[in-house]
Amino acid sequence: MEVLIFPDALSLARKSADLVESQIKAFPDSVIGLATGSTPLGLYEELIMRHAEHDLSFAQVKTFNLDEYVGIPSNHPQSYRTFMDKNLFNRIDIDQSNTQVPDGMAENPLATGPAYEKMIEDSGGIDLQILGVGTDGHIGFNEPTSSLGSITRVKTLTQQTIEDNSRFFSPNEFQPKLAITMGIKTILDARRILLLAHGENKSNAIRDMIEGPLAAFCPASALQLHQRTTILVDEAAASKLSLKGYYKFVGEMQDELVRKHRPSDWISR
Ligand code: GLP
Repeated sequence: MEVLIFPDALSLARKSADLVESQIKAFPDSVIGLATGSTPLGLYEELIMRHAEHDLSFAQVKTFNLDEYVGIPSNHPQSYRTFMDKNLFNRIDIDQSNTQVPDGMAENPLATGPAYEKMIEDSGGIDLQILGVGTDGHIGFNEPTSSLGSITRVKTLTQQTIEDNSRFFSPNEFQPKLAITMGIKTILDARRILLLAHGENKSNAIRDMIEGPLAAFCPASALQLHQRTTILVDEAAASKLSLKGYYKFVGEMQDELVRKHRPSDWISR
């Protein structure tokens, strides 16, 4: 795992946008896996700005979102489809028909997983997957004890996740307790992964993911198996890492190697 530590959320967002931009510029028809939540908002704002002020085009990009709540329609204010439309898709030149979010209102939610997997496969697979992390170490909605070999399916949310996400719902509003989520295997199949986290409330999950054992109890720890994962964290999220100094040293050595020997191995396909 490559661990990059930033002084604040803004510099982290800019660096993650640099990485996404180089992927799209190298392969304009890239397939990007997207996440919701407050963490990737800075990245999305940067991408929108680069689209408006520079020549970053999403015209040929395809996207697959990680997850969606079960039981609320796509036009519901708290659906992840609405989140993506509002915070990214409606503000860039992406073709809406190239954007996929699991259908939380499917007649039989249990049948949606294999179809979503097939769509990802038919697109050629995900080139770059963006991830956040839950305070309990979940990625997508793969809650603790999710199978490390799981594919897209319905998951029941933990009380902690329901509480963490209750800030988006009004006090008496229906809040879903089920979600359709890409599985851990689906995520690990992406060619490149970027996981972003900021804030002290993510520090336990970040420590367990990077330095803890590989265990379904911390689903994000499955990323230890992935060959091309970059973790971008701010100082607060990195505060419980015991090898923090080492990760910074690795970053310096890596920069030197890249400067001397090759431009960058960042682009995937
Ligand atoms: C939700 C999403 C995750 C996201 C997590 C963290 O549970 N399903 O994909 O990573 O929230 O959210 P936030 O970035 O708001 O902390």
